Amino acid sequence: MAFAFGLLAGAPALERLLYPKALSAAHGLAFKLSGLALLVSVLRMLDMAWSLKDLTGSAPDVFLLFQTYAGQVLLLQAGSVLLSLLLLHFSGSTFWSAAWLSAAMACTALAGHVVSASESWRQILVSCTHVLLAQLWLAGVFNLMWRLGQSQKLFAVWRGQLARFSKWALPGMLLMLLTGVLLSSWTVASWPALLATPYGWLLIFKLLFVCAVLVCAWQLRGWLKKTAGTSSTVRYWLSSEISLALAVLILASWLAASMPAAHDTIVWPFGFRWTPVLAWRQDQAGTEISLMWAAGLLITGALLFVLLRKRQAVWRWLVFMSAVIASLAIALPATSIPAYPTTYMHSPLRLDTASVVAGEALYKPYCADCHGLNGQGDGPVAKLNAMQAANLTEPHVSWHTHGDMFWWLTYGRGKMPGFAAALLEEDRWHLINHLIALSFGYEARSLTGIPAPFNPWLPALDFRFKMDNNRFMSMSEWRGLHAVHLIIINQKTELQRVRDLLPDMKGFPAQLVIVVKPEWVKDLVKGPCEAIIVADENADIARAWSYYRRSFAAPDFLNEDRWVARTEFLIDRYGFVRARWRSDEAPSALSVAELKAMYDSLSLEGEIKSAAIHQHD
Ligand code: HEC
Repeated sequence: MAFAFGLLAGAPALERLLYPKALSAAHGLAFKLSGLALLVSVLRMLDMAWSLKDLTGSAPDVFLLFQTYAGQVLLLQAGSVLLSLLLLHFSGSTFWSAAWLSAAMACTALAGHVVSASESWRQILVSCTHVLLAQLWLAGVFNLMWRLGQSQKLFAVWRGQLARFSKWALPGMLLMLLTGVLLSSWTVASWPALLATPYGWLLIFKLLFVCAVLVCAWQLRGWLKKTAGTSSTVRYWLSSEISLALAVLILASWLAASMPAAHDTIVWPFGFRWTPVLAWRQDQAGTEISLMWAAGLLITGALLFVLLRKRQAVWRWLVFMSAVIASLAIALPATSIPAYPTTYMHSPLRLDTASVVAGEALYKPYCADCHGLNGQGDGPVAKLNAMQAANLTEPHVSWHTHGDMFWWLTYGRGKMPGFAAALLEEDRWHLINHLIALSFGYEARSLTGIPAPFNPWLPALDFRFKMDNNRFMSMSEWRGLHAVHLIIINQKTELQRVRDLLPDMKGFPAQLVIVVKPEWVKDLVKGPCEAIIVADENADIARAWSYYRRSFAAPDFLNEDRWVARTEFLIDRYGFVRARWRSDEAPSALSVAELKAMYDSLSLEGEIKSAAIHQHD
């Protein structure tokens, strides 16, 4: 409705902008249409006030409405229409009147998902541009149709108008497509979300209609170039364009009222997904051989196409197309891997120490018999039955999506039974977080004391702690704001390191967080710096973070030496662990100046990857 309103209001104003020499000023029409738009706005306000009444349970209250974001946008919109109307009436200034009208039209974008969910000026700008352009274009096309009926006698004049409109429409359409792609990248966010959510399907449907509209527009452009065109062809293409545009309009408002795909749960409808890199990692030789066959077929097809003579045109194409289809039939399955309805489901739990530890507690009774106490696939049951229980300490665990693992834990995989009856859904997610930390932990062997630039890959394990003012806070709340220097102490003598650091920490570029046993807190005096000292009840934080202790010098495959006296982690601004120091490997710990230089070197990096996919926030 809001869209249609912009269109109505836009038509006469646009007419004056685009065809200043046109005979009729269409003053009267502008008043009628703007009046109608105002009426629609007021009706919408009443409707909203009414639905607020149902929410709050009090009498309908328009003032309450104006305290909400949507209400303010509506008020702004109605105000702009009114202003444009008054300007037109009293000063006759078509330019300012049209400018205020555009403002009113852009308001329809302000109530959309992208804008109301974010405060980024970039998204607001893109959304307003897209909606405004779409309305202007619709207004222009409607206007052309209307004038075609009006000026049968002045057909040559009309032709000039169409040429004028067409000149503006091409760059406008390109900008609309560009802003549309940007908007979709925010509301949809991923290819799976586009393919497997109602929002994504609607968007695809809308795009199909947009393509059809473009075909009509192209025909009209072609008609302009011809010298002898009849009015019936142009009428046909113009009316087709308008009907299709109306369909786009309806789909766009439907989209605006649907849940954006990026926030929806994806239920994957296919039994496979296309991921060349993962398929190759899982079966390197097989994928390579298939791809070679596919390439061979394609090349043969191309050669035959060149060699066969021109006279055999049908045969050439037939041979070539069969080669293309056959090579796709080989290449696509070889680069796909199995997928499940839950494949793209996000974990409802964050990757935090409490969850990792909860998963660890469940692992022993439910999984260790097959996968072994340390996850190496060497449990007694697996050995007895000669079954190959997967080695969960290998990198392949973190290649799977969380949703894939959830499916296997629920319904089983190969000889592994499903745990739908034995374990709560939440427990299965705890187990998955534990597996992720376990697998990442083995990869963490490659961490050193020097951060590799532009390569964040190891997500920090989040945890909650109590601050001095007794409020609770999570480490992830600093994400995007500043880096963290995390020190975990398991041996009392290492407290000296902290005592040495604390006096010099003023102005340090990262937040210092020190995790110690509760009884040691009183032994540390913070001084003037804003370090956070966390009392680690039940040693949960130290336990979960100890997954990340492994190094090439001390890989500890048998899991015998979990409690390193002191480990320090450099966590970048976006929540990734970038460097690590163990007290036994680097006994002379880094000075404040050395640490500072390291944090400063990372401060130039922007966000390369989001840790949020592991944290669900
Ligand atoms: C009865 C023995 C058994 C038990 C109990 C068991 N698994 Fe498995 N698991 C297997 C076998 C066998 C495979 C290999 C299946 C295949 O690929 O055919 C496997 C595979 C897996 C995989 C896939 C690994 C990969 O990267 O391919 C995961 C994840 C997994 N198990 C997790 C668990 C968890 C978590 C538990 C405890 C809740 C558990 N399993 C309990 C036998 C078992």
